Amino acid sequence: MKILLGISGGIAAYKACELVRQLTTRGHAVRVVATQHALEFVSALTLQTLSGERVRSDLFSLTEESEISHIDLADWADVALIAPATANTIARLASGIADDLLTTVCLATRAPLVVAPAMNVNMYRHPATQENLDRLAKRGVRIVGPDAGELACGWQGEGRLVDPVAIVAAAERAAGRQRLRGEVVLVDAGPTAEPVDPVRVLTNRSSGRMGFAIAEVAAREGAEVLLVAGPVHLPTPHGVERIDVVTAAEMRDAVLASLPRATLVVLAAAVSDYAVREPAGTKLKREGAEQITLELVRNPDILREVVERRSGQVVVGFAAETDDVLANARAKLGRKGCDLIVANDVSRPEIGFDVDRNEVTIVGPGAGDVLEIPMATKHEVAERILERALEVRRS
Ligand code: PMT
Repeated sequence: MKILLGISGGIAAYKACELVRQLTTRGHAVRVVATQHALEFVSALTLQTLSGERVRSDLFSLTEESEISHIDLADWADVALIAPATANTIARLASGIADDLLTTVCLATRAPLVVAPAMNVNMYRHPATQENLDRLAKRGVRIVGPDAGELACGWQGEGRLVDPVAIVAAAERAAGRQRLRGEVVLVDAGPTAEPVDPVRVLTNRSSGRMGFAIAEVAAREGAEVLLVAGPVHLPTPHGVERIDVVTAAEMRDAVLASLPRATLVVLAAAVSDYAVREPAGTKLKREGAEQITLELVRNPDILREVVERRSGQVVVGFAAETDDVLANARAKLGRKGCDLIVANDVSRPEIGFDVDRNEVTIVGPGAGDVLEIPMATKHEVAERILERALEVRRS
């Protein structure tokens, strides 16, 4: 595999030497593009000796550019990997800035991009950096790490470059064939809204982001994707076929109609468990009634019906819980009969409903079949859910 290794200027740049060695040991061809600042931390000679290739860093070098142009470098790569990626390089990538050789090559390449951040914990946690990482992830860039621990700057926390072994694995995965090619992934997402009268609805706080992330990642991994979306304000991910619905009954009909085409089903929607028995035909008036009673009837259980009607599809459900999360999720898995259930603690405001990050546990039927996914972007969580679903499919 041809790997373009970008190194940006942080203390973790010294670890890039070990990374080059591991990549070449595994038979990969490595061309290093280092920023000027990276070369303050690690010498071009070391990187050149380890990679067996001249190290490039200058967009305007007559010799470098005549040997191999920045566009040739961009076209050459099977995967572009930046390790370490500093906050500054991440910001430039997120903004599409091309003001040095590394960022120019990243803008020009069509190869998948893997970014391994490393920086001070406060820089990492800064909303600007988090927003930039989210923007990159949404664009399909794979973010590896960082790890938490003692940092070179003396602080403790997230910001350590992840182990080179994990970076190599991420680069190899990124350059591999799309893992969901040939699959048809059916996803439901968002809330449902049950009419009370012509202007009011019963709904919930789901934004649709988790389900949309699953749809987007599945499409990026080569699947054909059918997305049944409740009322949300999100753009349709690239390459995804979207069916908009409002009520649980409509969602059920759309999901069941798409089911025969699907090979893998992920039901992330927050479906209203009840609907108003007889929505009023005209707006309910405030005057006159001190108190009103809405009679609710139970909605269909879409997940249960999907499980009952499936013909070989792997089915993944979610469990949004506020207490005894794991126990309740496991019970739900049993009741619904799906292959996996993604337990989501929605009592925590920083994850779950209407935020960009999530932290879940993927529970399977076996006693020890529990996979904890630490806090990450919903796109990263989506990757792990789809990865796990694919394992089940292959088992
Ligand atoms: O949309 P976001 O803002 O990104 O938030 C994401 C999320 C919190 C909504 C998502 O991660 C999540 O947890 N979705 C499931 C929400 C839910 O309704 O869970 P539940 O435990 O009530 O339902 C269990 C499962 O049955 C879910 O797969 C649900 O889609 C399904 N279900 C529920 C009721 C119903 N009538 N039909 C169903 O199919």
